[in-house]
Amino acid sequence: MARSGGSGAGCVRVEGATKRFRQGTTVEALRDATIEFAPGGFTAVMGASGSGKSTLLHAVAGLTRLDEGKAIVDGIDLSALSDRALTVFRRRRIGLVFQAFNLIPSLTAEQNATLPVVVDGRDEDEARERVARMFERLGIAHRRDHRPDALSGGEQQRVAIARALVADPAVVLADEPTGSLDSVTGQAICRILKELCAESGRTIVVVTHEPAVAVWADRVVVLRDGRVLAEFPAAPFADAHALAAHYQDVVATGPALAGGAAS
Ligand SMILES: Nc1ncnc2c1ncn2[C@@H]1O[C@H](COP(=O)(O)OP(=O)(O)OP(=O)(O)O)[C@@H](O)[C@H]1O
Ligand SMILES: [Mg+2]
Repeated sequence: MARSGGSGAGCVRVEGATKRFRQGTTVEALRDATIEFAPGGFTAVMGASGSGKSTLLHAVAGLTRLDEGKAIVDGIDLSALSDRALTVFRRRRIGLVFQAFNLIPSLTAEQNATLPVVVDGRDEDEARERVARMFERLGIAHRRDHRPDALSGGEQQRVAIARALVADPAVVLADEPTGSLDSVTGQAICRILKELCAESGRTIVVVTHEPAVAVWADRVVVLRDGRVLAEFPAAPFADAHALAAHYQDVVATGPALAGGAAS
């Protein structure tokens, strides 16, 4: 696959992205949005319900095609790929984590986690070894042969994280990964995601409504009406409450008037 745009492994860039949904009236879920996610960075995407967060993630994952603009992921312009090439690209280079876990009920934890490699026709034994190591790290080795309905929400999300990482993707995208979990489990999931991505230099984008999740990121991007309203570094905030206060300021007054970072 030809790489384009001078952007390399793990780089994610959305340029002039517009996505319209037509259902009677036309909704513009993304409106000429331009956002860059640096390789190896951890970005949280926040914004009100309907601001375009999931649409942005789906565009970057190649799950939806833009009407205008480009999504360049890991050096590849997704709009140039056929549907089949897009599917292969997603399987090999992107790890996806969803709020609802999206595990296959009839498969064991191990079978779910190895699935992206198995459907890709690659070495299953190697995938099983990788999954075994990740399950150890994730504290779910003893749940390997269980089906999803026998697992807690936190365990299911750990399996989904192993599945997202099994193909060693450069980019991990998570849409409200803690939205179905209690806050303690949610924090454990954030720590795991951050560690597993940081040690391999993966780029991670997490959509979230929760300041307690965003505080794990390096950077917060705030969407409003399909555009970037503001972005700010997360590091200056001592805790989720301080980040939440700044986020509320940004949303209420816009970036220019919202004062310094760690106020
Ligand atoms: N498949 C679709 N068909 C029609 N409209 C859609 C579709 N997907 C999204 N939209 C609309 O696009 C806009 C942005 O939706 P999106 O799901 O990206 O928002 P969001 O920021 O993820 O919201 P939430 O926080 O509620 O998940 C909304 O107005 C939504 O109704
Ligand atoms: Mg959403």
